[in-house]
Amino acid sequence: MSERTVLPAAGPLRGRVSVPGDKSIAHRAVMFNAAGQGEALVRGLPSGRDVASTMAAMAGLGAGIERLGLDSVRVRGRDLVFDRSPGRIDCENSGTTMRLLCGLLAGQQGLDATLVGDASLSRRPMRRVAEPLARLGALIETTEGHAPVRIRGGLLTGAEVALAVASAQVKSAVILAGLQGQGTTAVVEPASSRDHTERLLRAMGVDLIVGGADGHGAGGCRVEVSGPAALACVDVLVPGDPSSAAFLLVAAAIVPGSEVTIDGVLLNPTRLGFLHVLRRMGADIQCSVDALVGGEEVGTITARFSRLRAFEVAADEVPATIDELPLLAVAAAFADGMSVVRGAAELRVKESDRIAATAALLGAMGIRVDVFDDGFCVHGGVPRGGASVLTHGDHRIAMSAAVAALACVEGVTVDDAESVAVSFPEFFDVLARLGA
Ligand code: S3P
Repeated sequence: MSERTVLPAAGPLRGRVSVPGDKSIAHRAVMFNAAGQGEALVRGLPSGRDVASTMAAMAGLGAGIERLGLDSVRVRGRDLVFDRSPGRIDCENSGTTMRLLCGLLAGQQGLDATLVGDASLSRRPMRRVAEPLARLGALIETTEGHAPVRIRGGLLTGAEVALAVASAQVKSAVILAGLQGQGTTAVVEPASSRDHTERLLRAMGVDLIVGGADGHGAGGCRVEVSGPAALACVDVLVPGDPSSAAFLLVAAAIVPGSEVTIDGVLLNPTRLGFLHVLRRMGADIQCSVDALVGGEEVGTITARFSRLRAFEVAADEVPATIDELPLLAVAAAFADGMSVVRGAAELRVKESDRIAATAALLGAMGIRVDVFDDGFCVHGGVPRGGASVLTHGDHRIAMSAAVAALACVEGVTVDDAESVAVSFPEFFDVLARLGA
């Protein structure tokens, strides 16, 4: 663990930067190509630990993962036939690696694998993926609902599965299992989560039917696939991660005089809830889609310092803002009024309990936060520096605290600055480049 004190910005943050490749797309680009026919070049990979966990897992399952440069790999696919005895697969801190693998491996007849993770991942719920997969006939044993998770691959049969919570990881696991099962599998979510799996599988030649939870276009989302299906490997250029960009944009919005532009960032609408919230807060944000890359919108976002007002986020907006809610709470601490987030109980089962961790972070800075089971209310004010913040090893809590520090009059100390390496190892360097 490395303690680090982040100093207030001495002046405005200014500049044009790019951010590491999108973590969600990178996991899928590596994993799905490793399951595909042929080979593919994946460029723009983030150097964070999470995607490295997926690469190591796929190599351990027999896929060819050849590093070509700092951010690119050549993946040789296994055409949906993996090594049968990979033993223990260490997913480290990555929930996406573990949950997607559950779906991918459930249909591998004769395979016996155990997925393990670090202390944080071992606390996160896994029944939510094991139970829907069991509807297709999967044999997945959790350890009292958690990792280690043992998967014994077998014959799967298509089924209709309704998820209790919107989760792109669980939805993706069911789709990946459905591709290997006999017949039609449909997964229905109560609200639409990020859709990178659907977009990439389409690009790989899979016929997916996507509609509303009612089968037409309303109330969440329903995705249908028919198996058995094959995946054709496809080259992927991973766009910049909006969830990493968000930290720089909020920093620009709260440090007086700032203007920050991020180029080459993913602008998939299922990921941009935080931009809508920031705009409602009165933030000066410009955003333009410049291209469609591999079926995903990519473009530029600029944020300038603005006087912010309070916001509300209700359950229907949670899936599109989920990873940015701790950061939006930091923005709320600098805004006029009381900001309220509800319907976000999912935050309790992320890399840390992000409701408790966010409340403690802001509390240490003298900001009143009312805590609910499913959210929080931040009373905007004048956050004070000089605080010490516990990150609980959670990259997004560490970066949220650092952003808050930039707009205080004294520094803020985080106990585990290294945790940013999970998604954005270059975070402190990029901030320095912007003048922090
Ligand atoms: C992710 C989905 C989300 C998100 C996570 C990445 C993905 O989790 O919070 O950081 O890549 O599918 P859930 O599926 O649990 O909502």
